Amino acid sequence: MAQKIIIDTDPGQDDAVAILLALASPELEVMGITAVAGNVPLSLTEVNARKIVELAGHTDIPVFAGCDRPLVRNLVTAEYVHGKTGLDGIELPAPTIPLQTEHAVQFIIDCLRKEPAGTVTLIPIGPLTNIAAAFERAPDIVERVARIVLMGGAYFEVGNVTPAAEFNIYVDPEAAKQVFASGVPITVLPLDATHQALTSREWVDAMRALPNRCGPAVASWTDFFERFDKAKYGSAGAPLHDPCAIAWLIRPELFEGKDINVEIETKGEFTAGMTVADWWGVTDRPANALFIRM
Ligand code: BDR
Ligand code: CA
Repeated sequence: MAQKIIIDTDPGQDDAVAILLALASPELEVMGITAVAGNVPLSLTEVNARKIVELAGHTDIPVFAGCDRPLVRNLVTAEYVHGKTGLDGIELPAPTIPLQTEHAVQFIIDCLRKEPAGTVTLIPIGPLTNIAAAFERAPDIVERVARIVLMGGAYFEVGNVTPAAEFNIYVDPEAAKQVFASGVPITVLPLDATHQALTSREWVDAMRALPNRCGPAVASWTDFFERFDKAKYGSAGAPLHDPCAIAWLIRPELFEGKDINVEIETKGEFTAGMTVADWWGVTDRPANALFIRM
């Protein structure tokens, strides 16, 4: 039976590839897509999510708009990575499917209450604001979540937005702290893993040659995304951050990690948003996450 998932996202070219991968995977049943402010403001991420769903021909997947800012901080965006629209690289038509009227946080709550406990997996691939808001508003849903598989954080690879922090956690560390303390089983796909999941020229060319609309879009998006990372890291290839979360769900044997304790720094002057990962078990803090390293 297909695994039920909710994708919580801030598209984002790599979010887009993750959504397309999920929609194309018979192993997964996408219950809904919930947009959050992150790479670009919410007014763009929800439109982008609808464009992606429509590109894939899955107009039946409902798209919800969620929180337009972090729990307590001002929103930090990343147009310098993703472009003005968040989905720069190819122009897609304005979506025709409507945005759902229900708030994304309420959808997450309702869906978890409606489905049998332990059957819905949450896939946050943006800041964790919507997930933390849902847990705060409806604590009864926490124990109903099968697992959270998230893209976020970094440890050995260090940060991409500050020397210490990865973007998704940095934008809303207070939300991340709540989620990591929730007791839900968590799989973390940090930069340590996603910086190894790089596109190659052959892969991009093969995508562009696919006889459908999604392949060429993926090629254009990852080409756009690569331009930024090549300048920053000096290596070729676009990191497929968010698709790693979907890939772990479908093919966990491709990855290696360890159950460890991960705490979120919310106060540090230079380290806010850092995922303090006790990789070597030097504290007696209990494990709260499967931290993927490769
Ligand atoms: C994460 O931040 C965003 O820019 C990407 O979409 C990804 O979710 C990588 O740090
Ligand atoms: Ca993202």
